[in-house]
Amino acid sequence: MARRTVISMPGDGIGNQVLPEAIRVLNAVGFEAEYIHADIGWECWAKEGNALPDRTIELLAKHKLGLFGAITSKPKKEADVELNPALRGKGYSYFSPIVSMRQRFNLDVCMRPCIGFPGNPLNFIRKKPSGGFEEPQVNTVVFRQNTEGLYAGIEWSNPPEQVRSALATHPKFKAFEKVKGEDMAISVRVITRPAAERICRAAFEYARKYGYKNVTICEKPNVLRETSGLMEEVAKQVAKDFPSIPLWSTNIDAQTMWLTKNPEDYGVIVASNLFGDVISDAFAGLVGGLGFAASGNIGKEVSVFEPTHGSAPKYAELNPPIVNPIAMILSAAMMLEHIGENDKSARVRAAIADVVREGKVRTYDMMRISGGPKSLSQGAASTTQMTDAILAKLANVRVPEYAATH
Ligand code: NAI
Ligand code: MG
Repeated sequence: MARRTVISMPGDGIGNQVLPEAIRVLNAVGFEAEYIHADIGWECWAKEGNALPDRTIELLAKHKLGLFGAITSKPKKEADVELNPALRGKGYSYFSPIVSMRQRFNLDVCMRPCIGFPGNPLNFIRKKPSGGFEEPQVNTVVFRQNTEGLYAGIEWSNPPEQVRSALATHPKFKAFEKVKGEDMAISVRVITRPAAERICRAAFEYARKYGYKNVTICEKPNVLRETSGLMEEVAKQVAKDFPSIPLWSTNIDAQTMWLTKNPEDYGVIVASNLFGDVISDAFAGLVGGLGFAASGNIGKEVSVFEPTHGSAPKYAELNPPIVNPIAMILSAAMMLEHIGENDKSARVRAAIADVVREGKVRTYDMMRISGGPKSLSQGAASTTQMTDAILAKLANVRVPEYAATH
């Protein structure tokens, strides 16, 4: 395969620590690529008034494949204070570069695999009725609509009069008519049929490709009758093209309860933006949390892969770094799968699985100790040591069955 070009966007804080580790693994597995650094994040905001500079957008538009670490974002007041004095009062306002990137390239399919590695001390266990404990094998992949729904950004505090009068055409708004503007905030939940269809189809196609036993649409159509209703209707329509895969329908509230009851029953889950965000974090908590949670933002042309975690500023200055690079490395493995390099990604996953199963090398989060300068002297591996352990296994991994299929 031709040498690929990957846009490397480490961003802020620990993004700068974990992304180079993922590139070390990609190199070791024989993925031939050129990495072009692109700026993103808080420093860009503070210096230039734009957290996602045009030069980064151009690089992504040209090369179409990105790895992203994490960014820092801060509340509006702090954003204003930290902006370059030369730019203040000139109409600059902070906007999340991740949201901008998703919207700019219509990265509308967000994929978040939550697959437990056997032997991970952070895996969910439950009590058996007969006594003792059991550890269900969680293997759930959440497909979250990434651009619409309640995160579309259509919202107001003290909504303008036109908005109020438009809403007043709905009989249910009567209950709010007397509320003062300053006492009211409104967020709009927009769901469109084409975007719903794309996320549902992506979920079913993935289930078919990787042999998942069911797809669950996780919404709340009994209450959010129009928007969740549309998601469910589209899911049912798409399901007709995949007759061998049963479609289940759950409500988001009940799903979070069932999560700890029978998580092993769920294969692929598909949901709108907010519900997908919630349920993917919830499932990630069953398989090791932020140190293990990877994601892909997939558009028709551009795709960007990133760990779910943020920039963890409290650990960003530690030298040597202590955070777990596995979430970032798994994100790189997802990138490999996305471009058809499945053998390489299977080897990466198998190497991680070996390290986790063996249990000799664990970052502080895997030891359930608090992170800080002392965690290394308590036996935790550093970020680099964890990657080194994965590289050592890569040299001669067996590819276990579950890794080969992901
Ligand atoms: P965070 O995900 O950065 O960190 C929360 C805590 O999780 C950390 O303090 C640490 O204890 C743990 N953690 C995170 N990543 C870890 C790793 N790889 N290994 C081990 N432990 C890890 O979330 P927080 O503290 O709420 O936000 C910090 C900054 O990151 C904020 O500015 C926030 O806006 C931003 N953020 C950015 C995201 C992104 O870039 N996608 C996502 C979430 C937050
Ligand atoms: Mg989240």
